[in-house]
Amino acid sequence: MKGVVLAGGLGSRLYPLTKVTNKHLLPVYNEPMIYYPLRILVNAGIDEILIVTGGNNAGDFLRLLENGKDFGLKHINYAYQQGEGGIAAALSLAEHFADRDKIAVVLGDNIIEGNIKKAAEKFRTQKDGARILLKEVPDPQRFGVPVFDGKRIIRIEEKPEKPASHYAVIGIYMYDYRVFEFIQSLKPSQRGELEITDVNNFYIREGNMQWDVLEGWWSDAGTFESLQSAGQMVAKTGANKL
Ligand code: G1P
Repeated sequence: MKGVVLAGGLGSRLYPLTKVTNKHLLPVYNEPMIYYPLRILVNAGIDEILIVTGGNNAGDFLRLLENGKDFGLKHINYAYQQGEGGIAAALSLAEHFADRDKIAVVLGDNIIEGNIKKAAEKFRTQKDGARILLKEVPDPQRFGVPVFDGKRIIRIEEKPEKPASHYAVIGIYMYDYRVFEFIQSLKPSQRGELEITDVNNFYIREGNMQWDVLEGWWSDAGTFESLQSAGQMVAKTGANKL
């Protein structure tokens, strides 16, 4: 399985912090934000990794991460996203890199206390399809929210006004190679983006989506509040524990 970190976007919810730099280079406690999602993949035993980024600061990632020596990697791959298009549009740039292998995708602003080893191991033995991770949250309306029929997810709703469950679909996704076919058939959402939730709903409609609940805390870091609280949680307990 290969890994992809999505680190593009305008970071508009963090303006003006993101006026001259990329969101994923901002500090979360004592490290740049992108260190945390990168470690999620490395700690899951993934050593072939692609970073998708864009905009004016793309070169800064190369200077910061180099060939990944600090993460125990020999090499890091980079892809450049021109313009804006949403998470699924950024992911489509990973098709050549994935080369029909399974992929684990992490959003560059997602930070976790623990690791995804067990889920990754299950996905390695899962024949095909997709696997997502859920976390119970107090404010599901901010996220993708699963709708259940018993233990089966029947669809995911993106930022619903009336969430059907207390779970958020966190920004760590595992896919087989068909993800790129699904992305090609997507249409932009109301916010003008190709939504990762629509990709997940393809797999759900096919009956080919598995899920796990993440252990330990999870935070995104894309708003002022979540950036600050993520930093506080990292300071308190540490992140990416094995
Ligand atoms: C994105 C996804 C959402 C997911 C979240 C996790 O939201 O669209 O489904 O729950 O990441 O961080 P965004 O950060 O683009 O608002």
